[in-house]
Amino acid sequence: MPADLEQLEASALADLAASDSAAGVEAWRVAYLGRSGKVTGLLRSIAQVPTEDRRAFGSAANALKDRLEDAFGQRLEEIRQAELRRAATEQRLDVTLPGRPYPRGRLHPITQTLREITAAFAGMGFTVAEGPEIESDYYNFEALRMPKGHPARDMWDTLWIDSGEAEPTTLLRTHTSPNQIRVMEAQQPPVRAIVPGKVYRYEATDATHEWHFYQVEGFAVDRNISMAELKGTLAEFARRMFGSKRKVRFRCDYFPFVEPGAEMSIDCFACDGRGCRVCKETGWIEILGAGMIHPEILDRVGYGSEEYTGFAFGMGVERITMLRHGIEDIRHFYQNDLRFLQQF
Ligand code: FA5
Repeated sequence: MPADLEQLEASALADLAASDSAAGVEAWRVAYLGRSGKVTGLLRSIAQVPTEDRRAFGSAANALKDRLEDAFGQRLEEIRQAELRRAATEQRLDVTLPGRPYPRGRLHPITQTLREITAAFAGMGFTVAEGPEIESDYYNFEALRMPKGHPARDMWDTLWIDSGEAEPTTLLRTHTSPNQIRVMEAQQPPVRAIVPGKVYRYEATDATHEWHFYQVEGFAVDRNISMAELKGTLAEFARRMFGSKRKVRFRCDYFPFVEPGAEMSIDCFACDGRGCRVCKETGWIEILGAGMIHPEILDRVGYGSEEYTGFAFGMGVERITMLRHGIEDIRHFYQNDLRFLQQF
């Protein structure tokens, strides 16, 4: 091999051995084997070599290039391994450290109750529907036999969306009863449905009253449905939700869309019916309003009150959750205090 090639190889290998990072080795590759590198230049200079020496020079130069490429590959690998070893020792991972606990999420107690109520009625053959929270005066009041100016409208203190208008027509639904009408308009009898949803009232809050809360509306229309089915269905529901220990009481009540109307109460969990702050000294907590759907409503939706009868009820989901868990103030549900919410 010509002396200048030997010299070049020796200096190239020395430089390579001195490079101790991936970037350094790459710079070396560019300097020797790159397009304008020293070895490439040497191969290009073959034109200046006397013709008789060209073959020997060419093969020696090519062999040198191959050796340097091999040396480069090896050195690069050595450096990678060394970098890996360094990373493994410097950034040591202690696999014995305890893991960071990620708190598990849970369902809000109201969501849990909603699901249990839904399951209880689904088990009795009821389907589930939904309706809008922003509702019209028509569905919230008129269709439920409360024309404008009807005194019973005062039973629901209303949050109007368009209260600036001379005659407001859009509101946040004050109860889930509009969905009786919506479902009956869309479906032919027999029908058995529940409609869970949020409702809003322009109302002062206390231990059992929120200004926004959940209701579950339920109703059944078929031939020969009587008050006995209403009582039986709701008593069975109460048994499934509260067990047989809690007492159930039905009393007459008035709602313009039912005749006769009733309310159902459960004996107070906090005082076992003796009377306390939670039940306002009455011993009972009212959980729902109910009654036989007014014949005018059945006629209005085209069911025909001669042929069909039905019952309806609307229950308060927060009140039911309070009864089930012994919660003394409804306002806990929406204060988002995790110490409270994590108990469920
Ligand atoms: C109604 O809203 C009727 N739509 C119920 C109904 C449906 C009657 C079908 C007949 C036929 P009421 O305003 O009483 O009725 O409310 C029903 C239930 O919602 C109450 O029994 C109570 O459990 C709950 N509730 C009422 N007001 C509040 C409030 N401010 N905070 C929490 N729960 C309430």
